Amino acid sequence: MSSIAVLGCAWGDEAKAKIVDVLAEKSDIIARFQGGNNAGHTINLKGKKYVFHLIPSGILYPDKICVLGSGVVIDPFQLVSEIGELEKSGIRFEERFFIDPRANVVLPLHRLLDGQAENNEHQTTIGTTRKGIGPTYADAIARKGLKMYDLFDEEKLIKKLKIIYEYHGLKSENLPELTESLLKIGESVEQYLLQIPYLLNNEYDAGKNILFEGAQGSLLDIFFGTYPFETSSHTIAGGISVGLGVPPQKIDKVVGVYKSYYTRVGEGPFPTELKDEIGEKIRRQGNEYGSTTGRPRRCGWFDAVAAKYTAMINGVDEIALTLLDVLSGFSTLKICTEYRLEDNFIDEFPFDSDILKRIEPQYIELPGWEENISGMKKFSYLPSNAKKYVSAIEELLGIKISVISVGPERDQTIFR
Ligand code: GDP
Ligand code: IMO
Ligand code: MG
Repeated sequence: MSSIAVLGCAWGDEAKAKIVDVLAEKSDIIARFQGGNNAGHTINLKGKKYVFHLIPSGILYPDKICVLGSGVVIDPFQLVSEIGELEKSGIRFEERFFIDPRANVVLPLHRLLDGQAENNEHQTTIGTTRKGIGPTYADAIARKGLKMYDLFDEEKLIKKLKIIYEYHGLKSENLPELTESLLKIGESVEQYLLQIPYLLNNEYDAGKNILFEGAQGSLLDIFFGTYPFETSSHTIAGGISVGLGVPPQKIDKVVGVYKSYYTRVGEGPFPTELKDEIGEKIRRQGNEYGSTTGRPRRCGWFDAVAAKYTAMINGVDEIALTLLDVLSGFSTLKICTEYRLEDNFIDEFPFDSDILKRIEPQYIELPGWEENISGMKKFSYLPSNAKKYVSAIEELLGIKISVISVGPERDQTIFR
């Protein structure tokens, strides 16, 4: 195997970064293909907590190459501040961090538009991270976007910024200041620009190991999520090719990251959501607060209907089941196996969010366990009810759960 994809298969925050960190040890290159600093990827390493928004989670390994593909949207101010912060912790970027020049730039105007849309009472509130992600992708699709390669040529930059601001009907009074800041950032990040399709395809052909790091989750995918309550990028496996210029046949293995229960931040349907003390307990035990916005995450039971759907659209080969330790101390655990819509039972994930809002989840119940499992290093050490819970998910999805995470640290991981 030369390449492996690590993808969130629910509504984001599945602990992808922790799994990337564990699996990156065997990789030479870690590549992000979509999203921007709407992501919040947490790694706990030797007691220190790192939260990455834009930088690939592999950067903590000093010898690995980390890249951002053309499908990533880059807020240049966030980029330099994140690099600066990590450099203060002793992390080195030179000659091992690369950005595709084609990546689109998130401008202050995109953040403004994101916030305005969210505050507009005549528009649907999505509950976005307000980082300007949607408006930036919209401009890219409309072919009005600013590219990373535009940050070096003053004349071209002034011209393009004017077009973008006018396109949005906004005054461009502050453009000289913005132009100056962007040119300054351009100067400092020029060293990182590289043609990512050539890098990745050549390295793959030379037998190097590549890890594709997903952000967000499949149920937030722009075309296959819960429209319009989703992000604006291709979060599913197909997004790897779209966002990096690596053909599908070079994606050798897909690891789907699933939480042992489900969470969601922002608005939108969530069939298995628990709005009671059980949901509160999961939030408390799992410390379920957004890594980017600090918002409390909505919590609920594992949804096997949604899980089978995302396994299908991603071609999940193996599963990493995370945060299993959070489920200690519940007398009964539930897994949704079917949806009920009036008199019909359905096992397909509905295409329309209004339908998804109306369905009633049907559950199987499993006995829980009391023990703290966060120090358990082998599957055989787990309480029998925890093993039964893992096996139930495995059987429902028909996919092997090869990694189980029982805590945020690298060594709190069970390989099967
Ligand atoms: P990501 O966006 O998918 O990378 O996930 P986040 O970083 O937003 O959220 C996952 C949270 O769970 C982070 O705070 C992690 O440190 C933490 N975490 C990761 N794996 C585990 C685990 O197995 N158990 C527990 N209790 N916490 C975990
Ligand atoms: P990671 O990579 C969870 C959600 C937002 C909102 C919707 C659209 O950490 O898993 P956006 O700002 O992208 O336009 O917001 O998507 N969202 C996430 N939820 N984890 C994320 O990233 C998310 N990134 C965006 O809450 O509902
Ligand atoms: Mg996150």
